Amino acid sequence: MTKQKEIVLSGIRSTGNLHLGNYYGALRKFVAIQDDYDCNFFIADLHALTTNPDPEQLHANVKNILAEYLASGLDPEKSTIFIQSDIPEIAEMYLLLNMHVGIGELMRTTSFKDKARKCLGLKAPADGDSDEAFEKEIIGADTNKRVNAGLLTYPTLMAVDILIQKATKVPVGKDQLQHLELTRRFARRFNSFYGVDFFPEPTDFDFGGAPVKVPGLDGSGKMGKSEGNCIYLVDEPKVLRKKVMRAVTDEGPKEPNSPMREPVANLFTLLELTSTPEVVKHFRDAYADCSIRYGDLKKQLAEDIIAVTEPIRQRIGDIMADEDFLRRVVAQGAERARARAADTLAEMRQIMGIRKF
Ligand code: ADP
Ligand code: TRP
Repeated sequence: MTKQKEIVLSGIRSTGNLHLGNYYGALRKFVAIQDDYDCNFFIADLHALTTNPDPEQLHANVKNILAEYLASGLDPEKSTIFIQSDIPEIAEMYLLLNMHVGIGELMRTTSFKDKARKCLGLKAPADGDSDEAFEKEIIGADTNKRVNAGLLTYPTLMAVDILIQKATKVPVGKDQLQHLELTRRFARRFNSFYGVDFFPEPTDFDFGGAPVKVPGLDGSGKMGKSEGNCIYLVDEPKVLRKKVMRAVTDEGPKEPNSPMREPVANLFTLLELTSTPEVVKHFRDAYADCSIRYGDLKKQLAEDIIAVTEPIRQRIGDIMADEDFLRRVVAQGAERARARAADTLAEMRQIMGIRKF
């Protein structure tokens, strides 16, 4: 008898195009596990609604990410690829699960505090300071500065995405681990409240090895949408070359074997991801003996990144033009994802006492 594959699920909010950080930190790893797990990858468009996007933009982003998923190697024959809003059972379960979620625990969630502070125009309190201003403003009467309830219940919706598929392995970035912890807590709470062994407790997917952190080109920190320092999979070669040539460096090593500053180390990190060991060694040696010319390094880096992104970019173009294919992929994904979601929801309604006469 073949062993049942473990259920893996991950989603990405449809808030913009995918960048090299998403590719190396997430997508490429998803592609690699498609044969060994029951993989489910979806586009979290309902989560994107929490920041009230422009409707046309939201729809365009869903289509973009779908094409970018497929062009990066996610295979609809191996993985279930779907759009969150195509699964109405998620919305219903979100209502049910919310009955077991505390507003206090949601308000204490780091991502909520960060996003709500942004809405209210508040700064984070200094270490040790109380968050009194935040709490006052949140329940305050100024209706111009509304923090929507969807933002508060974001973790409930994410828990539902996971629990409705009974996924046990959830690959996410570090910033999402708290949401995963809440998901486990909600699963445990539901099971113990109703005395059932219904929801499994999901954990982060361990890919082994050190996690990849793709740096930006602006000298420090990681590549990220909100940092405005991204190389996108859809960037044309000439755009990409320009971005790389403008990357921050320093005045260059003055003595042999000088320690490397962060902006330069970041370029090497990108080179290690995209280039051959020989090329990396060539530039490392040149840095060590002070003969390095950053212009040459950048030129090489740009071409190596283009070698990775260009085939993907061309596939994105082809896939975007094939509306029939896109429709087939999401219809098939929705059918599979809904089958499992409907079973979970039906049983959950039973457990909670919502039963037919
Ligand atoms: P962003 O930070 O651009 O908003 P998301 O938070 O939507 O990206 O991330 C989606 C996925 O891509 C997550 O799994 C996250 O860990 C991964 N990811 C995003 N940026 C990077 C990065 N710079 N390096 C490695 N992985 C990243
Ligand atoms: N909240 C996740 C993010 O911002 C996206 C997401 C929504 C997700 N539902 C999920 C990730 C379920 C994993 C599993 O990145």
